[in-house]
Amino acid sequence: MVFDRRPDDMVRITTPELADAFIEEQIKALREQIGDKKVLLALSGGVDSSVVAAMLIKAVGQQLVCVHVNHGLLRKGEPEQVIEVFRNQMNANLIYVDAVDRFLDKLAGVTDPETKRKIIGGEFIEVFAEEARKLDGIQFLGQGTIWPDILESENGIKAHHNAGGLPEDMNFELVEPVKILFKDEVRIVGKQLGLPDGMVYRQPFPGPGLGVRCPGAITRDRLEAVRESDAILREEFAKNDLEGKVWQYFTVVPDFKSTGIKDGKRAFEWCCIVRAIITTDVMTATVAELPHDLMVHITDRITHEVPGINRVLYDFTPKPTGTVEYE
Ligand code: XMP
Repeated sequence: MVFDRRPDDMVRITTPELADAFIEEQIKALREQIGDKKVLLALSGGVDSSVVAAMLIKAVGQQLVCVHVNHGLLRKGEPEQVIEVFRNQMNANLIYVDAVDRFLDKLAGVTDPETKRKIIGGEFIEVFAEEARKLDGIQFLGQGTIWPDILESENGIKAHHNAGGLPEDMNFELVEPVKILFKDEVRIVGKQLGLPDGMVYRQPFPGPGLGVRCPGAITRDRLEAVRESDAILREEFAKNDLEGKVWQYFTVVPDFKSTGIKDGKRAFEWCCIVRAIITTDVMTATVAELPHDLMVHITDRITHEVPGINRVLYDFTPKPTGTVEYE
């Protein structure tokens, strides 16, 4: 049975058994809906699209075509994880598109945050549509819409981002197997479908990716400094059991240099800002209280391991007045 809306009496999926029952029901419904046709899915590696991919692979196997667009603004190791999990472990029909140069060339010299967002979103649709046009016989478009997306768009809080902006001649029928689920339910379902914890429990990551954490005009060297410092921060948070306790944590590298000393020589380099917040609904947020020793250790690692960075700062600003992201 495919529900268009979450039934009022639907039991919250909180256990593996309930997740298994949901998966079984959905797989049956998906097979009925899709038949022997093909489904296309933009697979970012985020929780929602990953769970949809895993569900569709189980339901229709090679009839699902996943497209992973690497726009160069993903975190360290993310494209590799998508390939490893979906192509190597789940045997998915996965098209990997290396669009790094294309995105970064378009973004070169662009400083305005909203223009950056528009370029990233617009280019994504274009790359995805180009890939779709190369394929024959696609009738369905898989989407990671979840129940809060529907509620928020109904309440006018945000435009429903899915189905977003594909050219009009591409009128695929939608397949939205997690549409009636809340986020915590999507995670349990993902876990039961065999996705790794690192994918299912990962922290929120904005669509424009590291692009909004490299304020102003993105350059490849500063973007790399964001990526590397973020990887160190995530590694240290994982090692120190802070994953899941701090809601969101990341680094930002603004286009600002200050004087420092490295290897006894003057080093005029960027500073790296660490942001770590606690929240329940992201409308407001407080700053995480982190152990001093850990901050000293993270600072030491980032300043010594990441080229171009000689200082690390901690952002003590709650939301409001600061937003979570910098752009
Ligand atoms: P702000 O910066 O608005 O962030 O306080 C609130 C939450 O939303 C995420 N965020 C985004 N997510 N596209 C997204 O998919 C975006 O453009 C975007 N901007 C912010 C942010 O990471 C935080 O979790």
